[in-house]
Amino acid sequence: MKLADNKATLSFSNGSPSVDLPVYHGNVGPDVVDIRKLYAQTGMFTYDPGFLSTASCQSAITYIDGDKGELLYRGYPIEQLATNCDFMETCHLLLYGNLPNAAGKTEFTKRVTQHTMVNEQMQFFLRGFRRDAHPMAIMTGLVGALSAFYHDSTDITNPEHRDISAIRLIAKMPTLVAMAYKYTVGQPYMYPKNELSYAGNFLHMMFATPCEPYVVNPVIERAMDRIFTLHADHEQNASTSTVRLCGSSGTNPFAAIAAGVACLWGPAHGGANEACLNMLEDIQRMGGISKVGEFMEKVKDKNSGVKLMGFGHRVYKNYDPRAKLMQETCKEVLGALGLENDPLFKLAMALEKIALEDDYFVQRKLYPNVDFYSGIVQRAIGIPVPLFTAIFALARTVGWIAQLNEMIGDPEYKIGRPRQLFTGSERRDVQPISQR
Ligand code: CMC
Repeated sequence: MKLADNKATLSFSNGSPSVDLPVYHGNVGPDVVDIRKLYAQTGMFTYDPGFLSTASCQSAITYIDGDKGELLYRGYPIEQLATNCDFMETCHLLLYGNLPNAAGKTEFTKRVTQHTMVNEQMQFFLRGFRRDAHPMAIMTGLVGALSAFYHDSTDITNPEHRDISAIRLIAKMPTLVAMAYKYTVGQPYMYPKNELSYAGNFLHMMFATPCEPYVVNPVIERAMDRIFTLHADHEQNASTSTVRLCGSSGTNPFAAIAAGVACLWGPAHGGANEACLNMLEDIQRMGGISKVGEFMEKVKDKNSGVKLMGFGHRVYKNYDPRAKLMQETCKEVLGALGLENDPLFKLAMALEKIALEDDYFVQRKLYPNVDFYSGIVQRAIGIPVPLFTAIFALARTVGWIAQLNEMIGDPEYKIGRPRQLFTGSERRDVQPISQR
């Protein structure tokens, strides 16, 4: 963060003295006006619900240029990472700032695979859930419960604890997601197999049974790995900001990540992949491609409350680069599984085409986001729709923990404590109950 030569001057029309505010440059992207002393100088707060113009922290992890449709992890374009690297390399990059060489990758992967098992007690904890519980309800509970099992790595002020918690979380998330799935279908849990890749091991824990051998399909393994890479981080989105805010109180990393899981669940965020697939299935049931026009009219009608799920983004005002890569993976997976004529994929492409040509979407710069095609890929792989967001949580865990650890190491970090514009009642006295 570099102090800029210019300052921002805030003046008031009521004659109050104006104030000068420092301006900082980042390495790329918009400058920021430092308002930290504004309250002390003027007695005023700024007002920005939804953080439309507020940078909540400084960060060196992920950069998005929403107008260009560019996403960089530690400076590397997502297209290059998704094509030339795997998820383990991406995790190393996000956590430590550099891509590992071959020896570093082997060492890092070994550290992660050593922690893939979860405490056996987790099975009994899981048993408390209904069999039809939503996987995200289960995940919120299981991830929070990890802090009760790994006391030896919960001191957030200790860098070694932070590092071991990061590795534990990345290693155990696939095991927990697969356990949540196996529990809901009533199949035995499959223990991790550490000779498999991260994605291959996840597929094995999801789809193998103790009765027969399971061979990981390399196309599906690559698709899964890419889904993880594309979802690994996305700068200060709602769940990451939740993790930072939660962690800013000094709570342990497992509790902070559980807060992130809970936030991700919502349909405006990670839950959009599930909502998008449900939407496509609804349109398909209504009559498919022939009903797209009618559906679009509803989307454009503000009173209908219907949104085109998987479209639009707070930051991207151009094509989400992850959506392009996901569309590519979608074609590859459907081809490998002999599902080239998948009606939902055709429907999604038809919806996309109409939306990209329609004035409503063009004017508002609404483009497909990562969730538009990810559901189709996951459904083809055999992942049940309610599990989609849990897989997003699995992948985003590395981003959450990298951001959390970055915050704790930042000398400027303080407990997050927003202020408010109060619109409620002024002071009043309680009346006796008989007079109310
Ligand atoms: N369908 C129809 N209209 C939309 C959509 C959509 N998907 N998204 C935005 N709009 C309209 C919105 O109604 C508003 O119109 P107007 O200016 O006439 O009032 C305008 O576009 C601007 O939208 P906004 O709601 O002010 O934008 P936002 O930045 O607050 O919301 C969003 C971003 C992602 C929550 C929103 O686009 C949305 O709800 N999309 C559908 C859900 C979705 O796909 N979410 C996944 C996001 S990507 C994965 C992730 O990061 O979790």
